[in-house]
Amino acid sequence: NPIKAPELDKCGVATNLNTGEKLDMNCCPPTSENIADYQLPPVVQMKVRPSAHRVSPEYIFKYNMAIDRMKRLPKDDPRNFMQQANIHCAYCNGAYDQPGQGTLDLQVHNSWLFFPFHRWYLYFYERIMGKLIGDPTFALPFWNWDNPKGMTIPPMFLDPKSALYDSKRNQDNLKAVLDLGMTGNKDPLQVVSNNLTIMHTEMVRGNASVYDFMGKPYREGDKVNPGPGSAERGSHTAVHVFVGDPREPSGEDLGNFYSAGRDPLFYCHHANVDRMWTLWKYFLPSNKVPERTITDPDFLNTSFLFYDENAQLVRVTVKDCVDNLRMGYDFERIDLPWLDYRP
Ligand code: C2O
Repeated sequence: NPIKAPELDKCGVATNLNTGEKLDMNCCPPTSENIADYQLPPVVQMKVRPSAHRVSPEYIFKYNMAIDRMKRLPKDDPRNFMQQANIHCAYCNGAYDQPGQGTLDLQVHNSWLFFPFHRWYLYFYERIMGKLIGDPTFALPFWNWDNPKGMTIPPMFLDPKSALYDSKRNQDNLKAVLDLGMTGNKDPLQVVSNNLTIMHTEMVRGNASVYDFMGKPYREGDKVNPGPGSAERGSHTAVHVFVGDPREPSGEDLGNFYSAGRDPLFYCHHANVDRMWTLWKYFLPSNKVPERTITDPDFLNTSFLFYDENAQLVRVTVKDCVDNLRMGYDFERIDLPWLDYRP
């Protein structure tokens, strides 16, 4: 059977998975009796998520304003910036148990739930931003780390006066070339070339079945972490580690599940992770893995709870998120230099 959405009133203490210790913070969301089954609204105008290295000053201004307003919402408003960050902590650090399964933890990483969970998370985050600035067409930028032009932290995140700034980042990597292989190599040209090889392997060469890319099945009653897909394990995790701050006790912010959502860069990073799902599903040659969708009802009927842009608690299902166009957003088209970059 599919994993059921967590019971918010049973949300408990979260664990720092990097150390195994209990966290002395509460990352549970406000509860609500009133849960609506979410209906995807009709798509009036497609949002287009832009590549973060190519956005205009006007775009940056709006983005900054949206995050600033999110930070200024009352602390107990589920759309507040910290509340949004805590969604990640609650779903990823063992604060929830699987409903009806005793104390069995619920975990959205390291399985086929990785892409769908994060897609829904960003979807509502984006709608909240749009609502706060009165622009329903506002779309999150994606950190285009799969392209050599995007292999550094997008500059708009580095301005200490901006709402997009976070002081808890690895200071040696603020302008360094992202190292997707975590090789430690300091030659930027070699790092870029290695990154492209990694992307090619994750996206094209290394997958023999849909589960190799999406992650392993994870059903009701299953233990956490059945196994991540290639992109989750590789590039996705490498970016978290690259940005996380080694001066902090536990890799905060981006380098630890419980704190990752506190860095605005998280959502920009995950917008590119989300793009990888779309690219893999619709844009890559399908000779090796002809089946690009998981049709298993246990996957499609898995549900999650989120607060939407009106602070209404909603239940969403995986089947409603498998097509980003139906959800009303697309991605700016950018070259894929890794496509034919064979090792
Ligand atoms: Cu939920 Cu990038 O992790």
